[in-house]
Amino acid sequence: MADDLLAAKRAAARRGVERIRPGMRLALGTGSTAAEAVRAIAARFPGTAFDCVASSRATEELARSVGLAVRPLRAGDRFDLMLDGADEVTPALALTKGGGGALLREKLLAGLSRELVILVDPTKLVAHLGERHPIPVEVVPFAASVLAERFAAEGFDARVRLTEDRRPFVTDNVNEILDAAPHAPVVDPAATLARLRAPTGVVEVGIFVGMASAVLVGHADGTVEERPARR
Ligand code: A5P
Repeated sequence: MADDLLAAKRAAARRGVERIRPGMRLALGTGSTAAEAVRAIAARFPGTAFDCVASSRATEELARSVGLAVRPLRAGDRFDLMLDGADEVTPALALTKGGGGALLREKLLAGLSRELVILVDPTKLVAHLGERHPIPVEVVPFAASVLAERFAAEGFDARVRLTEDRRPFVTDNVNEILDAAPHAPVVDPAATLARLRAPTGVVEVGIFVGMASAVLVGHADGTVEERPARR
């Protein structure tokens, strides 16, 4: 990763971690920026026990490796704060997420969190979702081919996400991801979310609307711009 990009992600992550107080219940996001936040939590609060649930196996492993205890999700769980990254952020704080394949668990934990604070570098800012990143859609593997066909008919170029060795990428929930690139800008994220989520075989869609409490945009010079949700 370019040094500037890493510096921007770190700046956003550190600012996000400044919101944490000892004793908080935390939901941990997934991806390179969320990973910076996990490292920053461990560095800022050495030896402090937090009640943490992670949105992916990768984050769970990282958290444990830096000394943060992580437990499975349980009935009744609510979190004070979730720190996570995003692939795209619009001015209204609609998000594309799932570039790391963790969108289902991310959305589930975000819905259980009082605050979802999104940490990004400036490359993630877009006017409309789908501009720079396709919309990740988690699907049941059996349905992937027919769903790709259906999304194509609805104006998306939908492809099964592949690993480096050209096999279908498998999520932590043992599903596949269709990356659906819209032919036209997504002008109504909520409507697009509803449309992509409707067919049988879709598990979840990586469009998050009305979920982010704030977006922190980090810059390479260490400054951070805060965009609160307008509610
Ligand atoms: C993981 O599934 C995603 O939602 C990530 O939060 C998103 O892809 C951002 O990742 P980076 O922080 O690595 O850019």
